[in-house]
Formats: sequence, C-alpha cells, structure tokens
Amino acid sequence: MARPEPRPSATAAVEARVHLHDLKPQLTDMREEVLAGLSAAPRRIAPKYFYDHRGSELFEAITRLPEYYPTRAEMSIFESRLDALCATLGPGNVLLEYGSGSSRKIRLMLEGLRPTAYLPVDISREHLLASARALAADYQWLEVHAICADYAAGFELPWRPERPSGEPVPITGFFPGSSIGNFERRAAGRFLTGVHHTLGTGGQLLIGVDRRKDKARLEAAYNDASGVTAAFNRNVLAHLNRTLDGDIDVEAFDHAAHYDEEAGRIEMHLVARRALTFTLAGETFAFARGETIHTENSYKYAPEEFRTLASGAGFETVEEFTDAESLFSVFVLRAL
Ligand code: AVJ
Repeated sequence: MARPEPRPSATAAVEARVHLHDLKPQLTDMREEVLAGLSAAPRRIAPKYFYDHRGSELFEAITRLPEYYPTRAEMSIFESRLDALCATLGPGNVLLEYGSGSSRKIRLMLEGLRPTAYLPVDISREHLLASARALAADYQWLEVHAICADYAAGFELPWRPERPSGEPVPITGFFPGSSIGNFERRAAGRFLTGVHHTLGTGGQLLIGVDRRKDKARLEAAYNDASGVTAAFNRNVLAHLNRTLDGDIDVEAFDHAAHYDEEAGRIEMHLVARRALTFTLAGETFAFARGETIHTENSYKYAPEEFRTLASGAGFETVEEFTDAESLFSVFVLRAL
C-alpha cells in the first residue's frame, strides 16, 4: 500500500501564493535592554519578553479564562456584526494585519471581506511564515504578502497593490485584541500616525480597544482565580533564566496587578517575597523583600478618549461597535 505522501503540487500551489518580504527588523539587544531595565528605578521588564513559547501558550489560556473578558467580548462583536463590519469596510481591499493571525478573528475577516491580498506584519519570521502558509493552504484564493518587520518601530510597505488600471487598491488595517493598550498613550498616538502614513488617505483601520470600566471587573480579569495570569507574569523570569543564563528563583516572586483609575491602566508587577539575589547575564542583582519589577501596562480607553486619539492621528471614526455588556470597542476608522 502506498504511504500517504505530502502532495508536492498542493504544497507548491501554496508556496506560489506566499511572498515573504523580510525587512530585517533590528532586534534590540535583549541583554542590554533587560539589564538596563532591571537596574532602573523602579525596575522593569518590557512586556514583549512574556512571549516565549510557554508564554504564548499561557496567553492563549488567559484568553479562555472566565474572568478575562476582552477576547470573548471582541469575538462576539466580530461574530454578531460581521455583515455590518464588512459592508462598512467594503470588498476587494487589501487587508494589512498588525501582528499575524493564528486566531479565529483573522479567519472571520478573511472570509467576510475576501480581500485581494492579505499582508500580515510580524517581527517573528518563523511565526509569520507558519501562519501565512496555514492561511494560504486553507484559502485557495488568497495571496499572502508576509512582511517581517517590527510594526511598533514603523516600516515602509514593501509592496503596494494596484488595480490593472494602475490605481492603488485601498488598504484596510486590522489591529485586534486591544494590543494598542501596551503603548503609553502618547506612543499610541504616534503609532496611529504611522498607521495613517502606511494606509494612505482613504485607507481604513479596524481596531479593537478595551474600555475603561469599573475597577473590580478589570482587576478580576488580571488576577484570575486559577492563577494563569500569575503564571504568565512569572514566566517572564523563566524566559530570562533560559535566554540570559540566569538563576532567578521564579517562585520567590508574587504576581500583583492593579488598576490605576486615573491613569486608566492595569499595571502588572512581580514582587519579591523575601530579600534575594540572583545573577543574570553575568550581573548580580539584590532585591529587598517587597521590591517590585514592573512588567506591563495595559491602557484602557473611554470611547470618546479613543476617538480623540484617532482624530489627532488624522483618522475619522466611521463606526464604533460594542458588545452586549459594553466592555470592549471595535472601531472602523478612515484616514483623512
Ligand atoms: C495582549 C496586551 C492585549 O493587556 O490584556 C493579558 C496582555 N496581560 N493578561 C492585555 C495581558 C495579562 C493583553 N494584551
């Protein structure tokens, strides 16, 4: 009996529709950045270091927690309002995703919008290509231009779609998940200005934003009863131990998350349970009991506040969608 072989023609057909544009993102020197952050007052580690393999798994688990409402709320908007969303955005556009979708969200949008091309932008070449190939295999009509770049740092589009007439095809940006919440407010404004530049006048942006809301609801979402967020927060230390040859006692740190109502942000910290020392990348660090490392800010936006931010970056709000509990917003913006 013939063994099942991978079908080379099918693979070749997928490869023919996946184009990689490697903009060679400048990898910041992790060692320098982490050592500087741990020596600063207050001490900090950037949230991008959460996402090693284990960290990505833990984040996936967070999105399924009963307390963590943002993913479910956003998904409920995409599911229940897909027709209205797609009617507003219009068919035949090019879909540019900030980050690369392994999630159900991008599949819904691809099926609803049927874009002429899909352009995911991601800093991880491996993750980018794996997800580009999976989508090209599942959607036989889809052309994928995968862009390896650091979208937070800004980039120039390496490929611009044109109509046969030579007219540029309007670009629709997609930035789900309230990932914009990791930027400081001013940096979020600068980021949106960069998005405007990339999309061009007439371009549109579909963006998910978590709303300001009562403290109890927010703090529950970042202090889940089963301790998954705590494990996610602590895992950053395990990631540093492995990557920078460290001996941090991960269990010696407590997870702490609180909502600063005035700043409109969740702050996550790691708190030393006792006085301790560790070495990392050849450097020694001494912590007093109770000393903290700031690991994340997650900014929340009132609807008006976000409209103002978007308007400052040259976008008008075409539509705003929310979920049944008004926890989360999905905006359709248009670049003026
Ligand atoms: C991926 C930045 C949107 O801020 O809610 C979830 C990350 N941190 N639980 C968020 C996160 C702790 C998440 N973002």
